[in-house]
Amino acid sequence: MSQSPLNDQPAMQGNGFYNKNSELQEAGIDLFIPIWKDLVETINFSANNATIADYASSQGKNSLSPINIAISSIISRNPKQTSISVIHTDLPSNDFSSLFETIEKNNNSYLKNHCRIFPFAVGRSYFDQILPPNSVDIGWNSWSLQWLSASPKNIDDHIFIDCTESAYLKNSYSHQLATDWSLFLGCRSKELKLSGKLMTIFIASRNLTSGWGPFWNEFWLTLLDLRSANLLSDTELALISLPIGVRSVDDIKKPFDKNNIFSNLKLERLDIIDAPDPFWDEYQLTRDPKTYGLRWANMAKAVAGPMISKALSNTQNTQCTLNEIFSRFSDRLSSHPFKVNHSLACVVVEKINHDHD
Ligand SMILES: C[S@@+](CC[C@H](N)C(=O)[O-])C[C@H]1O[C@@H](n2cnc3c(N)ncnc32)[C@H](O)[C@@H]1O
Repeated sequence: MSQSPLNDQPAMQGNGFYNKNSELQEAGIDLFIPIWKDLVETINFSANNATIADYASSQGKNSLSPINIAISSIISRNPKQTSISVIHTDLPSNDFSSLFETIEKNNNSYLKNHCRIFPFAVGRSYFDQILPPNSVDIGWNSWSLQWLSASPKNIDDHIFIDCTESAYLKNSYSHQLATDWSLFLGCRSKELKLSGKLMTIFIASRNLTSGWGPFWNEFWLTLLDLRSANLLSDTELALISLPIGVRSVDDIKKPFDKNNIFSNLKLERLDIIDAPDPFWDEYQLTRDPKTYGLRWANMAKAVAGPMISKALSNTQNTQCTLNEIFSRFSDRLSSHPFKVNHSLACVVVEKINHDHD
């Protein structure tokens, strides 16, 4: 299988665009905040320095609430704590300037209400060990693990793996998802302190469907329109593929088959929920299809814009084509609003001392 590693994968749309257009992700995170609150209360932080790792922070806005919660819990239980390190990690191509600006200026920043907090950032893929061994008390990760570490192959007949006709491609993606999940867990296991915990939230499938098919199919139909209008070539159409995939409950549990333990990580809990569609909810109140279409299209641009720009890099005016794609996508969605029914998994693991798994 020919693979292109995604270490040079473009991150989210820069200049703070992701921060401004990630209400969908924020709404999903909100549902899991009660679990996160309970979780941080169970951690015994060491007296001097506590370390919180935020894996795949992007531009940081959606990490502020969970990090504030963790910091408040640490300080309230241990007022003499000398310092707390907050380490944000993402791909090298991430818009770290927006992240630092968010930490410095956002009203909800954890720097506003607390002292002795020290933010750091790491621009490396989390499919490697990227933090010192046994150094992390608590890890947070949201909305990133659907991105593969390597793209098995372009999807020629669609952009989204769930919608391809190719069984071979579906198998390749499933295989990559399984490899990545184990790799991610193995790396975090090295970084967590003993009894440290990690919570990760990512898109999941329920009853054999992720729910994302109808949404990305509208995007595919938009691309076909552009092809018909000669605004995209066959090559460009073939190059635009989303290197993302969706795990089922069984996929998530698989590495933990033996005693609920994998690589010294104990699976503490696994929840799958119906995730919110805040744009549909807003549309129910406003009946404004234009705003509905724009919000969903901006969300798609925030996450997939840079990936699509890369596929269009030989196009004469990449920016113009990109804008045309998302403007037509917005119009298409506005013409028949629908609820995107999708699911999110939340996994909590604890590092234990277990030499023989
Ligand atoms: C949709 S954003 C999620 C951002 C934020 N955690 C949230 O919940 O809003 C996905 C993030 O995952 C990052 N990402 C994808 N693959 C990664 C990898 N291998 N290592 C580190 N970050 C990665 C992307 O760069 C992007 O910033």
